[in-house]
Amino acid sequence: MNDLNKKSVHTILHDLTLEEKIGQLLQLAPFFLLNDIEVEIFGSVQELNLDKEKIFNSGSMLGIGSAEDMIKVQSKYLENSRHKIPLVFMADIVHGYKTIFPVPIALASSFSEKLVYTSARISADEATTAGIHVTFSPVSDISKDPRWGRVVETFGEDSYLAGVMSKAMVKGYQQDNISLDNSLASCVKHFAAYGVPLAGRDYNTVTLSHIDLYSEYLKPYKEALDAGARLIMTAFNTIDRVPCTTNSFLLRNILRDKWKSNVVTISDYDSLRQIIDHGVAKDMKEVAYQGIQAGLDIEMQSTAYTNHLEGLIKNKAVDERLVDEAVLRVLQLKKDLGLFENPYKGAVLDDSTRVLTKENLESARMVAEESMVLLKNDGVLPLDKHIKIALIGPYADSKSVIGPWSWHGSRDVHPSLMDVFEENIIYHNNRSDIKDYTEKDLEKINQSDFIIFALGEPDWLSGEAHSRTDITLPNHQEKLMQLAKRANKKSVVLLFNGRPLVLENTLESNAIIECWFLGSESSNAIKNVLFGDVNPSGKLPISFPRNLGQVPYTYNHLNTGRPFIEGTNNEYVSKYMDSPNTPQFCFGYGLSYAKFKYTNLNLSKKEMRVTDSILASVNITNESNVTGKEVVQLYVKDVFARVSRPVKELKAFKKIELKPNETTTVSFEVSIKELVYQNILGEDVFDYGEFVIMIGCSSDDYLEDVLYLVED
Ligand code: GLC
Repeated sequence: MNDLNKKSVHTILHDLTLEEKIGQLLQLAPFFLLNDIEVEIFGSVQELNLDKEKIFNSGSMLGIGSAEDMIKVQSKYLENSRHKIPLVFMADIVHGYKTIFPVPIALASSFSEKLVYTSARISADEATTAGIHVTFSPVSDISKDPRWGRVVETFGEDSYLAGVMSKAMVKGYQQDNISLDNSLASCVKHFAAYGVPLAGRDYNTVTLSHIDLYSEYLKPYKEALDAGARLIMTAFNTIDRVPCTTNSFLLRNILRDKWKSNVVTISDYDSLRQIIDHGVAKDMKEVAYQGIQAGLDIEMQSTAYTNHLEGLIKNKAVDERLVDEAVLRVLQLKKDLGLFENPYKGAVLDDSTRVLTKENLESARMVAEESMVLLKNDGVLPLDKHIKIALIGPYADSKSVIGPWSWHGSRDVHPSLMDVFEENIIYHNNRSDIKDYTEKDLEKINQSDFIIFALGEPDWLSGEAHSRTDITLPNHQEKLMQLAKRANKKSVVLLFNGRPLVLENTLESNAIIECWFLGSESSNAIKNVLFGDVNPSGKLPISFPRNLGQVPYTYNHLNTGRPFIEGTNNEYVSKYMDSPNTPQFCFGYGLSYAKFKYTNLNLSKKEMRVTDSILASVNITNESNVTGKEVVQLYVKDVFARVSRPVKELKAFKKIELKPNETTTVSFEVSIKELVYQNILGEDVFDYGEFVIMIGCSSDDYLEDVLYLVED
């Protein structure tokens, strides 16, 4: 079967045997074709029950490490394939390939679609040199529970922000044409609502109502699909107690019928087989049946389809047209990627002019600089460049700041904090435990002018299967604050973490910067912010709780029938006996070295009709002597509706830059789009009446005014 590119995908399909069609729906790891195939077949994955023919019929590969490997695998595959339909290579390029960008929770902190687009664009340009065609990104799951290990991979707790960032990432990966050599097709994941497992424990049950799904959780996936994402990956969890991987409500009712989407659906790793563990199938034959009936196309690294679909079709238990539909989507993806013209698309054996270039690292540093969040500063920052520093804590000399899913990134090629602050450091100690600091240490710390505490979680405490019940700093690092007290030194705490943490005594520090895991250029970016060459501008995309007991806390909560009102002391209201309701740091919060003043919130009209729109504007003045960037946020509250509505919801944001003493007016258009909500059937509805329009610098610091939606 040659000249594939001259044939329609229907013709190609028609020329395939049933076994070959089913093969297109199998995704395997490449070691079968990189190593001795017999050894691999009868090795650690023997239970897959594969043989050479099935392997040479498979349609796609999971993960590839280099152009050399991709060329080796593709050529070996095509030599042994009757149909000569090339493999498509997929991998997790989530925040970089060799140049590593900040982790997604940090990217979201930038509140800059432009920077998120840049990180995706450069990641794609680098990753395609290895012959990778599809990335399993963006992670569009909303995450609200810091115990969950994969918060680090998400854009945080807010549906609107996650949607904006998902869209920017898809555009960055795909450009306007996935056939370009340096475009990656995007696979949005994990469909759906994987980010809110009960008790924050990865893979655990998700219990959301349909109105939750429609109002918040489904929207970011839809934004990614509307931006052109070509695949969607099913989640490990259940929705309505049905595993997402075989959930026809998600894969047919929502994806195909409601969203009219024809993207490829792919399981997560082995998640199709896992419906046996979920207790909804008793054997692999049933697994295959449920998967194809529900609308799952590609089965990743399990072999229910390969080993059972043919029999099910021959016994008329499954209509072959279901397989044809799935295979056509896979063939169309391969065609649109340009693989029929060039099976080795993108692969570049000498990638030295494309990866880890000075320009890419420069971009990574700029993204990192805007992904940090200044949580506290009593005036000690920025630092004088000649200051004598005591650098203390586990991240003093650690290079493990590239976060999870940076498997091609190297920790060794980039500087640590020790390296970049070399001239200023008179003492450093990477120990986490206060007991490791002696009087001798204290004498040396006394000779410094200032302490930088580089604290945090090891990056392996974040990521898949890495949930925690304790979200404080490991090894009681917060006790290191005693050193600042005993030495009577001012300090800054730099936090390296993949989830919100309970900060305890670290709050005593004079300044705190949330650094997350900022990637290859982490240390240089931090140095530029600490010395004031860059003014921090990040905002929190997820709330930081005061304590674990508040978890999960989210800013866009409902009011309840017995709301607690600050300053009152009613007993029978929704509050704790031992903690405020408010978080330590709220969604959208972040300071600057500049000082921004919001005045004159103005609505162009106080009454709006459904077909109208109004302008909500505010004046912002930079009352400082330094230029700074500010994320101006628009929130809306629907005061009375047919269902209880959140106390506020982010509806738009704009990142502006103001020079010293400069004043500008920022305006947001408010139309019915900002006022509608979804009912339990997923229909857009609205209610006439009172809305509160809020514009401010965070979800708890804003100016507000009232808008009425009135009938024509
Ligand atoms: C993992 C992850 C998913 C990833 C996939 C392939 O289990 O859940 O995010 O894309 O496997 O590596």
